[in-house]
Amino acid sequence: MKIDLTGKVALVTGSTRGIGRAIAQGLHDAGARVAVCGRDLSRAQAVAAELGDGARGFAADVADVASVQALVADVEKAFGQLDILVNNAGLTRDNLMMRIKDEDWDMVIDANLRGAFVAMRAATRGMMKRRWGRVINIASIVGITGNKGQANYAASKAGLIGLTKSVAKELASRNILANVVAPGFIDTDMTAAMTPEARAAMAGVIPLERLGTPADVAGAVVFLASDAASYITGQVLVVDGGMVM
Ligand code: NAI
Repeated sequence: MKIDLTGKVALVTGSTRGIGRAIAQGLHDAGARVAVCGRDLSRAQAVAAELGDGARGFAADVADVASVQALVADVEKAFGQLDILVNNAGLTRDNLMMRIKDEDWDMVIDANLRGAFVAMRAATRGMMKRRWGRVINIASIVGITGNKGQANYAASKAGLIGLTKSVAKELASRNILANVVAPGFIDTDMTAAMTPEARAAMAGVIPLERLGTPADVAGAVVFLASDAASYITGQVLVVDGGMVM
């Protein structure tokens, strides 16, 4: 089956770099028109220009409810519809649980979890009317396994899984599918901060013996957005080279 998203409009949050950028590229390559979104408008517009025809740049802070609502409204206005929502924007504020400050808890939950909820609530309204929609939320394997030093981040990613499954049940009758992609250890700015030793230790426990690439994650997202996945909803697709089985 050839993946063809011609005629669809996708919004990918946090898509000016890393995994989000690769997802935007993958959806655009498959024929979708794509809303590239970052915190900085000029950067988002530059990435949209790199993608080419049918891509446009938008700015939003996903930790801000009004900003997310305005983003969805702006995308629907600019493209006339929104069919595929990918909640990819995310951040870490790592520390041991005892040392996590309230503001670092709130920041991670507000951006990673509430931002996705607000975007879903806003974007699925139009999807319900058109009786077609795809929501793909980017979680993490640590939302399944937990991780020392990432209680806030792991809670936000586990929350995304429960959120997605609930919405999948609520909206299946409207032909809106909601799934999670849970990446493992992917080579991006987020993981570049680790020491070479820590990276080597992580790579050592990956059965495929390499870090993932943003394109590895994008492939799973494009699949879930496509008609090839039209009987799949409420699932967590782990993309981790076999780390978690
Ligand atoms: P990254 O740090 O390179 O990119 C994250 C993007 O989200 C950036 O463009 C950033 O500007 C944006 N962002 C962060 N906070 C935002 C906010 N408040 N408003 C708007 N945009 C915001 O990270 P990467 O690695 O590309 O991560 C993408 C997603 O994949 C994240 O949700 C992350 O949690 C998830 N993930 C990454 C893994 C990895 O190994 N790199 C593993 C598992 C999950």
